[in-house]
Amino acid sequence: MDVTFLPTPTADGSQTFYSTTFGEQFHSRDGAYDEARRTYAAATNLQALAQQQNAIVLLDICYGLGYNTAAALEAIWAANPDCEVTVIGLELDPQVPKAAIAQNLTQAWPEPVQPVLQALADKGQVQGRCQGQLWIGDARQQIQTLVDQGWRGDRIFLDPFSPPRCPQLWTVEFLSLVAQCLKPEGILATYSCAAAVRAGLQLAGLHLRTTRAVGRKWPATIARWIDQDLPPLSHQELEHLQTRAAVPYRDPTLRDSAAAILERRSRSQATSDLASTALWRKRWLA
Ligand SMILES: C[S@@+](CC[C@H](N)C(=O)[O-])C[C@H]1O[C@@H](n2cnc3c(N)ncnc32)[C@H](O)[C@@H]1O
Repeated sequence: MDVTFLPTPTADGSQTFYSTTFGEQFHSRDGAYDEARRTYAAATNLQALAQQQNAIVLLDICYGLGYNTAAALEAIWAANPDCEVTVIGLELDPQVPKAAIAQNLTQAWPEPVQPVLQALADKGQVQGRCQGQLWIGDARQQIQTLVDQGWRGDRIFLDPFSPPRCPQLWTVEFLSLVAQCLKPEGILATYSCAAAVRAGLQLAGLHLRTTRAVGRKWPATIARWIDQDLPPLSHQELEHLQTRAAVPYRDPTLRDSAAAILERRSRSQATSDLASTALWRKRWLA
């Protein structure tokens, strides 16, 4: 993959990379560490979970620089230093986590977290209070292996590039397999509030919740098998799901190119009975 490993500063002082392949930064400009802490560790109540149980299982889809795993370990061990953590990271490009370590981008995470990130980047695995593996390859194939193994996690972090850039990892077919890896009481978190993503998660059988941070324009999304806790979707968000923006991405064989998935969705949108998203935008965002 063609990634420019040029550190790019974000508003909280932490750094991220820019992908020339996907044409996007790896994190929000508002703060890379902050995004990992807020959208993934805090939104999934990891500290509370660590106070209740001494072992937690995590799936970090699109591991990248490892910030979401780092934020999770930071939260868990702050609440319960004895908690044992099992983490599986899925990542296409092994150079991303390696470059993050080589350029010292992970050094501001707490001291016990850093050797975990280093071992995952260098050796693809780690032992000890955190036992983990970093699986390199296309998450669409790796998720099928996890499903075949009956693997289940307490928390799943879903952090691909945006749907127009990386539709492969936002399809109903992929999200359905991801959902199968979530324990009955588990929580999935993603930064995306795109209607197509939320519709895909619903079609995978999950209930949706929203998480909103002070000062942020867009909410993030929480998905669970059980419909409880956390604020429900607002009227505006529910109406968004009744528009053509909610036509989901499809990838029946889990092998299509991004272009083929985008083209398939455009054709479905053209014949959809759903309301116009332009009208919704005018009503709510004008
Ligand atoms: C938005 S970044 C994730 C940032 C990451 N969570 C972090 O904290 O640094 C998206 C990541 O998805 C990876 N990726 C892209 N396509 C993928 C695929 N098909 N399977 C697995 N990973 C993929 C990219 O290499 C990139 O590292």
